[in-house]
Amino acid sequence: MRPTDPVRAEQGVVVSAQELASRVGRDILQQGGNAIDAAIATGFALAVVYPWAGNIGGGGFMVVRLPDGRATTFDFREKAPLAARPELFLDGAGEYSSKRHHDSYLSVGVPGTVAGFALAHERYGRLSWRALVEPAVRLAAEGFALTPSLARSFERILSDMAPYPASVAAFSRGGRPYRAGETWQQPDLARSLERIRDQGREGFYGGETARLLAAEMRRGGGLITEQDLARYQARERVPVRGSYRGWEIISMPPPSSGGVALIEALNILEGYDLKGMGAYSAPYVHHVTEAMRRAFLDRARYLADPDFAPVPVERLTSKSYAASLRAGLDPERASASAPADATLPAESEHTTHYSVVDAEGMAVSVTYTLEAGFGSKIVVTGAGFLLNNEMGDFNGKPGLTTATGLIGTSPNLARPEQRMLSSMTPTILARNGELVAVLGSPGGRTIINTVLVTVLDIIDGGMGIQQAVNAPRFHHQWLPDTLRIEEAGVTPEVAAALRAMGHQLTIRGRQGSVQAIMIEPGTRVRLGAPDLRDADAAAAGY
Ligand code: GLY
Repeated sequence: MRPTDPVRAEQGVVVSAQELASRVGRDILQQGGNAIDAAIATGFALAVVYPWAGNIGGGGFMVVRLPDGRATTFDFREKAPLAARPELFLDGAGEYSSKRHHDSYLSVGVPGTVAGFALAHERYGRLSWRALVEPAVRLAAEGFALTPSLARSFERILSDMAPYPASVAAFSRGGRPYRAGETWQQPDLARSLERIRDQGREGFYGGETARLLAAEMRRGGGLITEQDLARYQARERVPVRGSYRGWEIISMPPPSSGGVALIEALNILEGYDLKGMGAYSAPYVHHVTEAMRRAFLDRARYLADPDFAPVPVERLTSKSYAASLRAGLDPERASASAPADATLPAESEHTTHYSVVDAEGMAVSVTYTLEAGFGSKIVVTGAGFLLNNEMGDFNGKPGLTTATGLIGTSPNLARPEQRMLSSMTPTILARNGELVAVLGSPGGRTIINTVLVTVLDIIDGGMGIQQAVNAPRFHHQWLPDTLRIEEAGVTPEVAAALRAMGHQLTIRGRQGSVQAIMIEPGTRVRLGAPDLRDADAAAAGY
């Protein structure tokens, strides 16, 4: 029976999708590391024990709040290689090819994770880099017992890996699926991690690993070269900040759309008495859905890599803009999403989030990804790690969605060294200058709304952190014009009322996986709340 109460920790806690990785982070905290150190060690460990989304061949975002209230972020989103161009995903006949876009060597972006961790460590780390990578090296070299959930996921993915011999070799015993409880060792990955441990970022972006990755690309017709790897730089960026009923929201700026869309939706909702409506009542779900719809329309119109396209962050996150959007919101009728081409770029539901708070109150919120579960499914031959298929987060074809001029595909097209737009929303909440909560989720575009609904459950619903993590979730992304809601979130009466308002309602399976921490008021005990939707998610604290 899994615990339904959060883990209580007097000093520090790590919550991730895999217990072994949470324990690695907790051990680093106990050795005197700060939350950044623990986040880096947890991230490397997840690359070994949670290959579904943990990675060194992908990218992501880290939001940091220091004990004195200052905050910063690290952007280690993948980039398009130098040879990329907006028409990359069109076939010989000029037709958009989903295979090229999402499931080919062309779908691999230049990885950012190792550079992001190295930059965060250089800026704020306390323990040696070596100490942070070593636990992952050991887990890969010595192996660990596969959980039933991991063994099942390997078995399911094996046929997709069939075209890639190095992937089949890494994820099966000569083509025979691993069983739960068997020890899984990854010797090639261990050697790649050793190079990172010993040489820092150069151990990934140069030398043997870069040579092996570039050779893998040449073998499969991919674009990434050793020059692309050598040029990759992670960025420290100013967080996007907002407020909601007196709470401070700190989140990820572009190239993620997450923070901007979250704050835009919260600003719209601040003008309504959600508490008075009652959580998950028809008026409540209606108003939240309408806020989601508007935030996602602006996401499609404006959001992209700010190094390539001007993104009006200040306007989109302003209270006055939210007021103008409220003016067009009918409290009793669903708005229509414009009937433009609904083929926004497909985003996978597979990513992972983890949260860390240390004894001094430093908080770190990390969401990182390979895009799809197991990314491109391509393991780099001789290097043992999976490559992302993140290029699928670029828009697929210039002009594909411009029928009404509303989607604005141009800002997020694949251009040399541009970062693809993301929905990842690693977030930190504070109040009266004090840290309150750390959270985030996987789930493609649903990430933004999973975080939104959880924040509303905490602030308007007054829920404790485990209750908020367990609470039902729903999602609307402007197009397609569908409101998807977890079964537990809607009674037949509420469903009927929402349909009568004009919502196209779909009952869905689970949405997202929030790994969260809350600071208990009064005691300042750290409460670690894993998402019980995920079999292996766990908090480890001390
Ligand atoms: N690949 C998922 C995201 O970046 O939003």
